[in-house]
Amino acid sequence: MIKYIGSKRRLVPVLGELLTRAEARSALDLFTGTTRVAQEWKRRGAHVTAVDSARYAAVLADCFIATDAGDVDLGALREVFAHLDRLPGKDGYVTETFSRRARYFQEANAQRIDAVRDAIEREWASHPWRPVLLAGLLLAADRVDSTTGVQMAYLKQWSPRSYQPLELKPPELLGGPGASVHGDATKAVGDLPAVDLAYLDPPYNQHRYAGNYHVWETLVAWDSPEHYGVACKRIGLRGEEGASVFNRRREAPAAMASLVESLKAEVAVISGSDEGWIPVGDLADMASRFGTVQVLAFESKRYVGAQIGIYDLRGRRVGRPGRARNTEYLVVAGPAEVVSRMCAGYPRSEVAAV
Ligand SMILES: C[S@@+](CC[C@H](N)C(=O)[O-])C[C@H]1O[C@@H](n2cnc3c(N)ncnc32)[C@H](O)[C@@H]1O
Repeated sequence: MIKYIGSKRRLVPVLGELLTRAEARSALDLFTGTTRVAQEWKRRGAHVTAVDSARYAAVLADCFIATDAGDVDLGALREVFAHLDRLPGKDGYVTETFSRRARYFQEANAQRIDAVRDAIEREWASHPWRPVLLAGLLLAADRVDSTTGVQMAYLKQWSPRSYQPLELKPPELLGGPGASVHGDATKAVGDLPAVDLAYLDPPYNQHRYAGNYHVWETLVAWDSPEHYGVACKRIGLRGEEGASVFNRRREAPAAMASLVESLKAEVAVISGSDEGWIPVGDLADMASRFGTVQVLAFESKRYVGAQIGIYDLRGRRVGRPGRARNTEYLVVAGPAEVVSRMCAGYPRSEVAAV
């Protein structure tokens, strides 16, 4: 999976277990990001609908959640990837922008990304495998990038992994049906299906995901945007592109309350953090409409950029090092007996239980 700030990698086993204990057969992952939570739930047999406003996240959801491996000729798919992997590199937007101007990829890899992305556009633009091929390209590019995991800067010295050749291989597709929705959760919620379990993991601060992962946005959009700054971000990010109400401190709490209110679910799980703008006690209050609320608390190591600071090309620090650890919360709400079964044995927060 791609490196992703705010990804629930460490909590995936817990979230998987919560689904199983809730005996949920249908689930909603409203801010799906990498789709790793949705994937875990699909693996456990649930029908999952994965929602996200970022273009690359929608591609990942189309690939891992909406595509049923049982419907795919995996041999033929392997051949397509082998063909893409053999394509000779060529100069293009990625080479010029993300290797020569900025330094996210070594030149030979950037040229191959250009060649593969052009081939997908030329030959697969309206094929059902488009998201699978694009996801394969995103994952391959992520394995050879030269960042700390966000694309607001790149490393002063090339990362060791950037010297590896780009390797295109089929993503590990999961069997079974699922759905993907590309859009703003606050707008899409009215049209989403009623589910057994809904999970909300919105952004916690002002940084837009479309900006943090602008290289992935551009790889998916393939629109050769004008760019700005040392990081070569998409020009639209100076305006409203990728803006989310959850990146606006004053508006985020009301947006969250209204979203929680609109959910059609028996059980809700909401992610929070001791660094988030919405206090976990407030999240617990919002969730109380589902019934009983328990708050689980997990200590977690913060992402590496937050610990060492982030430096620009000239070696100047552009991000301050912060605390090494934080606490992540899971607010679990629903009928009393279901919540008590789900939460048994997990560490409870002293912050709030309604
Ligand atoms: C904390 S991350 C989710 C991480 C995810 N649970 C994972 O494990 O990979 C928040 C996600 O919310 C998405 N997002 C931000 N605002 C949104 C909105 N209004 N509607 C839908 N998705 C949004 C971002 O693109 C980002 O992927």
